[in-house]
Amino acid sequence: MCGIVGYIGERSARDVVIEGLRRLEYRGYDSAGIALVHAGDDGRGAVAARKRAGKLANLEKAISAEELPVSGTGIGHTRWATHGAPNDRNAHPHLGATGRVAVVHNGIIENFAELRAELEDEDHVLLSETDTEVAAHLLEREVVAGADLTTAMQRVCRRLEGAFTLVAVDGQDADRVVAARRNSPLVVGLGERENFLGSDVAAFIEFTRDALELGQDQVVTLTRDGVEVTGFDGTPAQATRYSVDWDLSAAEKDGHDWFMRKEIFEQPRAVADSLLGRWGADGRLQLDEMRLSDDELREIRKIIVIACGTSFYAGMVAKYTIEHWCRIPVEVQLASEFRYRDPILDNDTLVVAISQSGETADTLQAIRHARTQRSKVLAICNTNGSTIPRESDAVIYTHAGPEIGVASTKGFLTQLVACYLLGLYLAQVRGTRYGDEITQIVGQLEEMPAHIQTVLDRAEDVYAMARDHVAAESVLFLGRHAGYPVALEGALKLKELAYIHAEGFAAGELKHGPIALVEDGLPVLCLVPPQGRDQLHDKMLSGIQEVRARGARTICLAEETDTRITPYADALIRLPRVPTLLQPLVAVVPLQLFACELATAKGHDVDQPRNLAKSVTVE
Ligand code: G6P
Repeated sequence: MCGIVGYIGERSARDVVIEGLRRLEYRGYDSAGIALVHAGDDGRGAVAARKRAGKLANLEKAISAEELPVSGTGIGHTRWATHGAPNDRNAHPHLGATGRVAVVHNGIIENFAELRAELEDEDHVLLSETDTEVAAHLLEREVVAGADLTTAMQRVCRRLEGAFTLVAVDGQDADRVVAARRNSPLVVGLGERENFLGSDVAAFIEFTRDALELGQDQVVTLTRDGVEVTGFDGTPAQATRYSVDWDLSAAEKDGHDWFMRKEIFEQPRAVADSLLGRWGADGRLQLDEMRLSDDELREIRKIIVIACGTSFYAGMVAKYTIEHWCRIPVEVQLASEFRYRDPILDNDTLVVAISQSGETADTLQAIRHARTQRSKVLAICNTNGSTIPRESDAVIYTHAGPEIGVASTKGFLTQLVACYLLGLYLAQVRGTRYGDEITQIVGQLEEMPAHIQTVLDRAEDVYAMARDHVAAESVLFLGRHAGYPVALEGALKLKELAYIHAEGFAAGELKHGPIALVEDGLPVLCLVPPQGRDQLHDKMLSGIQEVRARGARTICLAEETDTRITPYADALIRLPRVPTLLQPLVAVVPLQLFACELATAKGHDVDQPRNLAKSVTVE
C-alpha cells in the first residue's frame, strides 16, 4: 500500500526514482510524484516536485515534456489513497510551508488533526486533505529553525501516532535523504557511492542486492557514502544486513501480458522451490526456520490461523489438513476481526499468521495482540525480512519469488505448501502420523508441480470458457471440504479482476439460502471432490443437480478419472487425480486462469485492479 522510493548517488535521481516507482506501482496507483534536490536559481538549493493523479504513466507524460533539474538526490511515491481523494493536490510529495522540505509517506498519522490545528494556529496554510502534509510542515519548521533533517525527523516522529514510513529531502541539503519507519515497510539498498530506499527491494533490485532491514521506530540517514540508523530518540541503532536472493528477471513480465499471468505459470516452479530442502538425510521432515522446539510444539493445545484475503483461504485449507493429520483443533480467523472479539489465548495456543507480504497491518496487529497474551506466533510468509516474520517466534518462508500482480496466485499456492509442511511437521513431532505416512504425503507433494503443469497445459480451454462469459453479471462457485476455500478464492479472484458479482459457497449450505440466487443461465463453477474416496463426491453431485434443476449453467472441475460427472456438467474442466487434501493445489489454477482471461477480455488492468493494493499497510 503506497510505494516509496529514495535515492542518493551519482546517477540521475529522476531515472532511478521513476524506475523504482514502476516496480512498486503494484502497491498503489491512485497517483504518483517525485521530488528532486537541485542547485536552485540562487544557488542555495531547492526542491523540484511534480505529481499527478492516476497511474505513473500520467506523471511520466507530464515530466517528459519538461527539463527537470539534474539531480542525484530524490524521492518518489505511488499512492493508494487513505486521507483525501486521489487527485493532484493530495498526491505526494507534500511540501513544507516554504517548499524547502518534501515528504512522501505510507501509512496513517492518526493524530494528524491535532497537529494540523497546531500548525494552522501558527498560520501555516495546508493545501491538501492529507495527513502527510502535516509531517512536511513539521519537518520544515524544524529545519528552518536550524536542525538538520535527521534531527528534525527524529523530533517529528516522536510526536506522530499511527503507522508511517516517511522519506524526506531538504532542498538546502543535497547530501542526505532521511527516512523513518513505524509499523510500515522500508528497506535500504546499499550501493557503491550510492544508496537507495524502497518500500520493498523491487525498488532497487536493478542496482543492488545488498539490503538493510530496519527495525521499528528507526530513522535512517542516507548519504552517498554511508547509512546511519538511529532510534527516534537519536541513539545509534543497528540494522541487519542481508542479501536479496532473487534478481531483476524475477521482477519482469517475461513475455506475458500481465505479471499475474506470468505468476500463474510460475506456479510449478514456486511450489517445487517451496518444497526444496525440507527432507533431511535422516528421512525426517525439517523446517530450518522453525525456531520453536519440539517440546513447545508438543505442548500446543489449539491453533488459531489469522490472515486476510487470499491468505485467509490458505488458512482454511490448513484447518482441514492440520486437524486431520495432527488432531489439534484449528480456528481460522480474519485478522481484522481477531483482536476485537477478545480471543481466548494462552501459551498453549499457537497462532499461525499467513501473509504473502509480511506487512499487512491487520495481521501484524493481530500477532502483536497474540504475543501480549503469551501465545507463540508462527509466520508463513513470502517476504524475507518483513515485519510479520521478524515479530514472530518462528517462520516458514514460502519461496514463490516476488509476487507483483495485485491478485495473489503463486503466493497462495506456496502458502498451501507451507501449511501442508507445517501440518506434517506437527504430525511428525507429536507422533500423530507414522513416519511412512508422512514420507508418502511428502512424495505426493513432490509430484504436485507436474500436476499443476498439466492444468496449465490446458489453459487455452479455460481461456475459451472465460471469454464466453464476458457478459456474465454474476457467477457462483460451489465447493465442499477442501474445495470450499477454493470456491471462495475463485470468487474473490473474479471480483478483484473482472469486477463481476461472484460468491463462493459451501455446496451443502446452498439449500439454506443462496439457492434463491439461481436463475436461468446463471454460471455456477462446481469444484467436484475426488471420486470414490468418501461420500463428498455424491453429495456434491446432488448439489450440482439442485442448481441445474433451477436453470444454472454448470462448469464442473472434476478429476480426469471421474466417471460420473459428464451428465452434470454443461462444461467440464478436467483435473489430474491427486489426494483429496492436496486437490486445492490443482483446483484453484483454472479459477485463476478464468479470472485473468475474463478480466483481460473485458479490457481491465489485471495487474492493477481498481481500488486495490497489493500490500495493505493500514488497518
Ligand atoms: C491485499 C491483496 C490480497 C492479499 C491480502 C493479504 O488485499 O490485494 O491479494 O491476499 O492483501 O495480503 P498478505 O500480504 O497479508 O498475504
